[in-house]
Amino acid sequence: EKGGYDHFMLKEIFEQPDTIFDCLRGRLDAVNASITMAGVQNNIDQIKNASRIIIIACGTSWHAALLAEYIFEELCRIPVEVEYASEFRYRNPIVKQGDVIIAVSQSGETADTLVAIEKAKEQGALIFGVVNVVGSSIARISNAGAYTHAGPEIGVASTKAFTAQLVVLTLIALKVAHEKGSIETKRFVQLLNELHDIPEKVKAALKTADAVKKLADKYKDAKDFLYLGRGYNFPIALEGALKLKEISYIHAEGYPAAEMKHGPIALVDETLPVVFVATKDSYHEKIVSNIQEIKARKGKVIAIVTEGDETITAMADDVIAVPEADEIVAPILSVIPLQLLSYYIGIAKDLDVDKPRNLAKSVTVE
Ligand code: F6R
Repeated sequence: EKGGYDHFMLKEIFEQPDTIFDCLRGRLDAVNASITMAGVQNNIDQIKNASRIIIIACGTSWHAALLAEYIFEELCRIPVEVEYASEFRYRNPIVKQGDVIIAVSQSGETADTLVAIEKAKEQGALIFGVVNVVGSSIARISNAGAYTHAGPEIGVASTKAFTAQLVVLTLIALKVAHEKGSIETKRFVQLLNELHDIPEKVKAALKTADAVKKLADKYKDAKDFLYLGRGYNFPIALEGALKLKEISYIHAEGYPAAEMKHGPIALVDETLPVVFVATKDSYHEKIVSNIQEIKARKGKVIAIVTEGDETITAMADDVIAVPEADEIVAPILSVIPLQLLSYYIGIAKDLDVDKPRNLAKSVTVE
């Protein structure tokens, strides 16, 4: 049932070219420049005219939500707020008719997320579910939705469900932007083609596995890790740090790279590995300076870069390259080596990667 892999986690990481393809199938038509999503289409007026969108989630799904904020705001020009379900539900949140709530959940059973959207629904918001498990509680209480179609995720740490969430949320943003007229046709078509190419590029990103395994052996005894990113790669830095904590029990923190000098840079010395998620995007020059700041303090820099990036390759201690892609979809590639890094460090430390201690696959109690 592990399909020849040693663990479900590794199987699910390697399944991603297929799960992403499944997630796009029947929805993305790059040739005719159209996106078919009935849940969005049936509510298009309400969504495209929303005064704001609130995205509610926990954990890894919250990281997908955070990236969606950047993408929705850029493409749809609608203000977005991203909320931890557990915080939202307990603070008498302001929800108005006309608000659109997107709930993101792999299991569809996370108690905090479920209660948070029940509350928002009572206050008159449209609830749109982005859920993996078909027929789950969150899927049923939602007014509309789009399934992620990643298939059953057995590994406790979320991997393939996360990339499927990114794909679905990007499709929704693109569809809404197109209907709203907030994206130029040329850019719309370009991004559809980018999404179309993603499964093949994920396949190429998975070829970094051997190189990542070597890095895992090199850095497995570190006590702490810092993960830094900017813009679209900031949520990926958070996700990389969460994966490492869960799977290898190494303390890790994710930060927006520029926040470093407001505190965390005090941690940097020659023993601290700092993972930069630094693919080629509009923030590239800025993150290059951040890498310099870490090197000047003797930190060990591991950089996830775009293939052919000689600037960062010349500066970093270790580099893992993923295929070139538009900055909106590049995070789907840059997360792959980070998933692999946590897996191989967990393995190097002889840990139970499929069932990390203290964690449950679905958190049905608060
Ligand atoms: C991390 C992980 C958790 C879940 C979180 C939300 O690898 O799996 O952080 O993402 O518990 O779960 P869902 O998405 O099922 O609502």
